Amino acid sequence: MSVRGVAILGSTGSIGKTTLEVITSFPDRFKVVALTAHRNAEELLDQVNRFDPELAVLVDGEPDQASIPSGTRFATGVDAILEAAAHPSADIVVNALVGAAGLEPTLTALAAGKRLALANKESLVVGGPLVMRALAEGGGELIPVDSEHSAVFQCLQGGRLESIRRIILTASGGPFRDRDPAELGKVTPADALRHPTWNMGAKITVDSATLVNKALEVIEAHFLFGMPYDAVSVVIHPQSIVHSLVEFQDGSTLAQLGHPTMSVPVLYALGYPERPPFETQTLDLAEVGSLTFEPVPAGRFPAFEHGRQAGLRGGTAPTVFNAASEEAVASFLAERLPFNGIPSVIGEVLNEHEVQEVTTLDVVRGADGWARERARAVAGTIANKSQRLA
Ligand SMILES: NC(=O)c1ccc[n+]([C@@H]2O[C@H](COP(=O)([O-])OP(=O)(O)OC[C@H]3O[C@@H](n4cnc5c(N)ncnc54)[C@H](OP(=O)(O)O)[C@@H]3O)[C@@H](O)[C@H]2O)c1
Repeated sequence: MSVRGVAILGSTGSIGKTTLEVITSFPDRFKVVALTAHRNAEELLDQVNRFDPELAVLVDGEPDQASIPSGTRFATGVDAILEAAAHPSADIVVNALVGAAGLEPTLTALAAGKRLALANKESLVVGGPLVMRALAEGGGELIPVDSEHSAVFQCLQGGRLESIRRIILTASGGPFRDRDPAELGKVTPADALRHPTWNMGAKITVDSATLVNKALEVIEAHFLFGMPYDAVSVVIHPQSIVHSLVEFQDGSTLAQLGHPTMSVPVLYALGYPERPPFETQTLDLAEVGSLTFEPVPAGRFPAFEHGRQAGLRGGTAPTVFNAASEEAVASFLAERLPFNGIPSVIGEVLNEHEVQEVTTLDVVRGADGWARERARAVAGTIANKSQRLA
């Protein structure tokens, strides 16, 4: 068995660290060849000293040169991430970046013919047509890391894409599933960051509370599996044990189950089609007891509705949905915008948007930049209004 080189983009984040932990268990299968971080120099240096990559990238900042091992080249700036994404020693690129910043590295990795283990769902949301084109032209592989899409991908090993009738994505419902909507204005970032079942980065945790994350995943599934939106449903499943389901034309439904850990989908994306032995908590259904499912309550998660509508509108609407939600979440986490202001910002920016077809990266950049500017302005207005009312 040959050792496969792995580049991890966003190695200092939640998925990045999980990937490094998984790789530690398989020194005979995987070797870290490139690592990237945004600003967390300390964590990156620690990883560099443990994993000895050929390339380490800190997008923003200058590391202490004395602590860099001689075998590692250090680079800074946004373009250096693209260098990591196309690194000649990388067979697999794990895109664990957060947000729209993940799109260009995704395109670069696919154009270079790599296996792309994609956690950065935003790549597909903001530039789905470009990503699928790069996949077709570059001859690489696209394996989802998102647990729901990994579940669908795994279920598909038992059937063909053409025989799917419907994909059913599960959602935990987040920490405010049973909260009175009237109370949501008072929710703090600390409340929103307390996810009931998953331990993840800040952005996705807040997105799980608004169900923006599930809307992003619906759009991700649409592009990844080529499914029309009316064939992608969502069901709330608070225990997060069933990771998603595929209903086939013959009436059979397959599901993938497991305790909520990202190690398993990460390993599957790295090792596919193999399933090497791995020490993780096994599932004892008798111990779990009951698994429950309920529909997404109509009107309860307006940001989710905005996302679905954006998907249906197509073109740059999902790009704008994502950018507006990134800006709204940043304002909320900075304690400027109330939690229930997040869907209002997204809805208002989407209402103002004139959709264009996604044909080039410039179209995506234009829509993304416009949406961020509008979202900051709308968030400012909402924040001022809510301060006056307080
Ligand atoms: N966490 C999960 O369990 C989970 C599950 C499914 C899917 N996902 C998806 O996986 C992706 C990563 O999520 P996460 O929770 O791991 O995020 P995270 O913990 O916030 O980590 C993000 C990583 O990206 C880097 N980064 C942030 N902004 C950047 C920028 N503008 N340019 C370059 N690098 C940047 C960060 O570097 P610094 O540390 O230096 O800031 C960090 O290494 C997201 O798309 C998320 O939706 C996550």
